[in-house]
Amino acid sequence: MEKLEQLYEGKAKKVFKTDDPELLIVDYKDDATAFNGEKKGTIMGKGVVNNRMTNHVFAKLEEAGVPTHLVQELSDRETLVKKVSIVPLEVIVRNVAAGSFSKRMGVAEGTELLCPILEFSYKNDDLGDPFINDDYALALGLATQEEIDTIKAYTRKVNEFLKGYFLAAGMKLIDFKIEFGKTSDGTIILADEISPDTCRLWDVHTNEKLDKDRFRRDMGNVEEAYNEVFKRLGLA
Ligand code: TMP
Ligand code: ASP
Repeated sequence: MEKLEQLYEGKAKKVFKTDDPELLIVDYKDDATAFNGEKKGTIMGKGVVNNRMTNHVFAKLEEAGVPTHLVQELSDRETLVKKVSIVPLEVIVRNVAAGSFSKRMGVAEGTELLCPILEFSYKNDDLGDPFINDDYALALGLATQEEIDTIKAYTRKVNEFLKGYFLAAGMKLIDFKIEFGKTSDGTIILADEISPDTCRLWDVHTNEKLDKDRFRRDMGNVEEAYNEVFKRLGLA
């Protein structure tokens, strides 16, 4: 399958048409941004880690009963995926307090939550992806009740799978963000990526951060962290 015209360039990936109208090719870049694009940089080799890790995780999630956009990995940075229209919700799960939750709620990073939190943001860069709830999504027509129910059920499955998957590799899944898409027949499937860009992963013994927070917070050893996750998952 060959790349045809570029459809879209996002902050971390480019998307190309193919000769099949139902299939696209995503090409993962090493570009990194944070704070809605205000901070820009490069994380060398990130595109390879995020592409291969996402595909590996998506294949496992399919086995666990979560449909995804994955069709076939084409190269280190390129993957053939089903074309979807992205549901404009950033679906976030938190198992441990961190990031914007800690700030908003005044709860120290690292505090265990009594149950996982599923939250939505409206995927809109101009507005800075504002925090919303189900009623906002329904009232603005971002998704139907049935779609929200499906998204929540899949998301809880993703969390249960990922917690065990990362723990087996010596990492705690603090929180993560996923996105869903709708195929041409309206089926909801998992899209976008699951990577150190979109998950907070801490070493299970030392709580060392092994994710994009090292870039967001100028902590150094950013590439090393991505490579460490890749290695621990047996992908290097
Ligand atoms: P937050 O604590 O900043 O709201 O982030 C929650 C999770 O979502 C964290 O794992 C990082 C991820 N995330 C993204 O993938 N993209 C984003 O644009 C943001 C803000 C967070
Ligand atoms: N990718 C997001 C941005 O550029 C933010 C993040 O991951 O922190 O704004």
